[in-house]
Amino acid sequence: MTADSRPRLVVLTGAGISAESGLKTFRDGDGLWENHAIEDVATPEGWQRDPELVLRFYNERRTQVRRARPNPAHRALAELEQAGFDVCIVTQNIDDLHERAGSREVVHLHGEILKARSSIDPRLIYPLPRGGIRLGDLCDKGGQLRPHVVWFGEAVPAYGHACDIVTEADLLLVVGTSLAVMPAAMLLHEAPTECPCILVDPNASALSPDWVRAIDAPASQGVPKLVDHWRRRQRLE
Ligand code: APR
Repeated sequence: MTADSRPRLVVLTGAGISAESGLKTFRDGDGLWENHAIEDVATPEGWQRDPELVLRFYNERRTQVRRARPNPAHRALAELEQAGFDVCIVTQNIDDLHERAGSREVVHLHGEILKARSSIDPRLIYPLPRGGIRLGDLCDKGGQLRPHVVWFGEAVPAYGHACDIVTEADLLLVVGTSLAVMPAAMLLHEAPTECPCILVDPNASALSPDWVRAIDAPASQGVPKLVDHWRRRQRLE
């Protein structure tokens, strides 16, 4: 419980929650991300080899993110918070759909595509230059700007903060993640032993360890149903 004694709901989200907003997941298809090999566009080595390709790739992804709209799952979580529940979202997603739905406490484990950061100092984070990042756009220390996104093989600076949040959970809801990527997948194990954990995903039963309650459903159906249930239960108490 938090100091004000409301139960703390922590929601861990992955690409699946944004799938019905039109943003592709990573591991449902052929291992490519929008026709690019992951190692070309989402690794430090790919960036070293061809920064122009990487910048172009993320500039295109940004257009998709801006066009996407929050779906009923994003909206239900925001409405739960607005109804007075203590909700914190830890997302692996780099889009801003939780924020646009109205959620206020959102931790981005893998960064935010709509921001830029220094390629020589990950602590230097900037608003996006107009028109996207170009070669020659520099940080205050003179390094090239890059997308504010954590790539494969890189450290996850927000992980410690995310662990602290999960450690305080009274209820853990996991939505739309294959739980295939470390260290994000380890977060589940940081929850207190008595904390119930629910996974909403079309493949939930196949993905869940046996101590997790699996709800085999797309996010836009499973999440609003759960949220509705919690809100009705609160009214009865
Ligand atoms: N609703 C809910 N879940 C869905 C839906 C849907 N409509 N459609 C697909 N899914 C589920 C899939 O069943 C799968 O379990 O979303 C999950 C997507 O898994 P991944 O593509 O592996 O995405 P994620 O777990 O978020 O990946 C983690 O890996 O590529 C890196 O950094 C990237 O943040 C990403 C991380």
